[in-house]
Amino acid sequence: MAKFLVQKSAPLRGEVKISGSKNAVLPIMAAALLTEEKCEIKDVPALRDVEVMCKLLESLGASVEMDLAHNCVQIEAAGEISWEAPFDLVKMMRASILVLGALLIRTGRAIIHLPGGCAIGKRPVELHLKGLRAMGVEIDEAQLNRGIVDAKVEKLSGSTIYLDFPSVGATEVIVMAATLADGVTILENAAQEPEIVDLANVLNKMGARIKGAGTDTIKIEGVESLKGVSHHVIPDRIEAGTFMVGAVMTGGNVLIKNIVADHLKAVIAKLRECGAEIQMTDEGLVVRGDRRPINSTDIKTLPYPGFPTDMQSPFMALLTVAKGPSVVIETVFENRFMHVGEFNRMGANIKTNGNCAIIPGDKTLQGAQVVATDLRAGAAVVLTGLVADGTTEVSQIYHVDRGYENFVEKLRSLGANIMRVEE
Ligand code: UD1
Repeated sequence: MAKFLVQKSAPLRGEVKISGSKNAVLPIMAAALLTEEKCEIKDVPALRDVEVMCKLLESLGASVEMDLAHNCVQIEAAGEISWEAPFDLVKMMRASILVLGALLIRTGRAIIHLPGGCAIGKRPVELHLKGLRAMGVEIDEAQLNRGIVDAKVEKLSGSTIYLDFPSVGATEVIVMAATLADGVTILENAAQEPEIVDLANVLNKMGARIKGAGTDTIKIEGVESLKGVSHHVIPDRIEAGTFMVGAVMTGGNVLIKNIVADHLKAVIAKLRECGAEIQMTDEGLVVRGDRRPINSTDIKTLPYPGFPTDMQSPFMALLTVAKGPSVVIETVFENRFMHVGEFNRMGANIKTNGNCAIIPGDKTLQGAQVVATDLRAGAAVVLTGLVADGTTEVSQIYHVDRGYENFVEKLRSLGANIMRVEE
């Protein structure tokens, strides 16, 4: 099993180029199933989740050329498509559910075992299914009770759908399904994340008629067919946010290239409250964290444009060394504080009560043996290791490989003392 060995490091300095967004590319790859023509996706991050999605699409009958050395994937789903997603692949990644709408469009059927992914709460799919049911899809209830989505439909028809919660995955699945449904679909209380906008942009380039992506109401007029596309994926705002936190935590000065600052408004505002100086320049975002001490602040995670849940653990890492206490409230996932135990091993002394964590701050952290409890938490404990005395040994780093391209190389290029060891 591979591990990271992290040692107290000098302030991060230099420049780092952010990769394409994992959470944007996965639905875009699934959308390639909606056409028989070739789709070319560029700026694809070389990540394990992308490899799993490539394998999933191949197993469904698509021809996939994966050139991750050049961050490019080509997908051509001409001919017959299978409707059953193999459990072996689906269990590796929750985002596998994203093929649900496309399978129904292409084959009128879909069988998907409920997905795995990060262990951060229940993560059900009832909102995806609610939307599809409203579009005429029948779901086998007995199968669903066994954890299998077994869905069929003659022809999807447009509908007005209200999501009880603005789920990112449900919005993506319903938007994809609606592009080729009969009539108009109106999706209310839709997720507004930048990744939804990127997906809608790709689909519109393919010939779909989607309006309102990025707001809480999306209108999709069904069309007869979609064509191939070439598309550059948006930069990964969570990867960018992670490096921004790293710069501030270590008291560094980092130029973050390939970033859309608008996607990070909440994170930028909170880092400024902590005392960081952040400036947009022609070259990218300059993050300076040399003002000490780091101020404490409170955060509450919310759907976009609120503070992203995926930045909760990296930001908590920063708050452990801030001056004075901070409160973190997690409202998106029900069980996303597993990293607290890892921070506490390093001396952070955080207390939790339900979805609320109190971080006393002012701590001199000690290196320890810690675990990457999920993808973002893995990055967060690495950041903590950069400011802790001694060595921090991070295990279960396959989580980090799922979501951060060249994490060690990028950190080392900024002067971080981190290495990956294979055991
Ligand atoms: C996506 C992101 C993930 C991010 C999350 C929230 C991808 C591949 N992953 O995940 O990185 O943390 O958005 O920003 O894009 N929920 C329900 N019922 C449903 C669907 C969701 O209760 O039918 C709940 C979930 O349990 C969770 C919350 O809604 O508590 C958010 O889930 P959702 O927005 O669907 O996240 P994902 O699409 O899985």
